[in-house]
Amino acid sequence: MDVNKLHPIFAVELIGPDLAQAPDQALIDTVEALMKEHAVVCIRGQGHITDEEHLRFARAFGPLELPGAFREGPRRMAYGLYDASNLDINGDIIDPESLRAKFSKGNEIFHADSSFNDMPSKWSMLRGVIVPPEKGDTEFVDLRHVYAQLPQAKKDQIEHLVAEHSFAASREKGGVTSTDAAGIRAVMPGAMQPMVRMSPSGHKCLFVGSHAFRVEGMADAEGRALIDELLAFASQPQFVYAHKWKQGDLLIWDNRCTLHRGTTFDYATYKRDLRRANVNEYGEERSAVAGPLPVANAATVKQDA
Ligand code: OGA
Ligand code: MN
Repeated sequence: MDVNKLHPIFAVELIGPDLAQAPDQALIDTVEALMKEHAVVCIRGQGHITDEEHLRFARAFGPLELPGAFREGPRRMAYGLYDASNLDINGDIIDPESLRAKFSKGNEIFHADSSFNDMPSKWSMLRGVIVPPEKGDTEFVDLRHVYAQLPQAKKDQIEHLVAEHSFAASREKGGVTSTDAAGIRAVMPGAMQPMVRMSPSGHKCLFVGSHAFRVEGMADAEGRALIDELLAFASQPQFVYAHKWKQGDLLIWDNRCTLHRGTTFDYATYKRDLRRANVNEYGEERSAVAGPLPVANAATVKQDA
């Protein structure tokens, strides 16, 4: 197996595994070790694997976090995978003005998947089934490095702060109406997260993202300003690895010590079929969503995070 760096700070590609085969302990150990050190690992050349093989590989690293109940019913992909595509049930490109398309706009702000969930989200594993010929990179930052670069005064200020994260808040930032956001809030209440947390490799990390919207003990506007300031700091170009998708990539990231975001592409012209498995650190396989989303067109809304 070959390992190559993708960015000076973090992120590697792994060439060689065939995930159509059940992963053996040596592969599981290799991926765990690479993830601990590099936080983002791209396993190339998996264009031939099925949804079930994708899910089998994910389950080797932790219990699945299942998509929400409103994702049940006819799907393009195996239950258990999140649909991060711009395609409808027939595989046609969705209307860029639809509510579902607006939901994915919220993904273009840096975030850690499911930070609104009280379960500790471990990794996301996003598979490039169809990728656009240009643009649509997924961008990452390593929050261990970001934290290390923060001025000492900022580190001191945030050391014991706790932020409230909510899926509704990040979708509102992406342009979803407050009425739809209220419906989301009813079934996805959100979670409190420390602003500084420890990575699996034992480094302190900054932990904010698009889902964070309020800081405990601060006025709403003041907390929001601090979150925005920290996100702007984290987004500096020299920190960012932009993943250029190749068909068949299986891109894995650690949600505890990285942020990621989608970027624009020609949404109305190109198909982009990305499918994601998420694993938690421990616990039962379950969804972060308590029930069906009471918003218009709930069946077509994409839950993402
Ligand atoms: C995700 C996500 C970004 C992208 O699937 O969690 O944020 O580039 N995707 O599609
Ligand atoms: Mn995401």
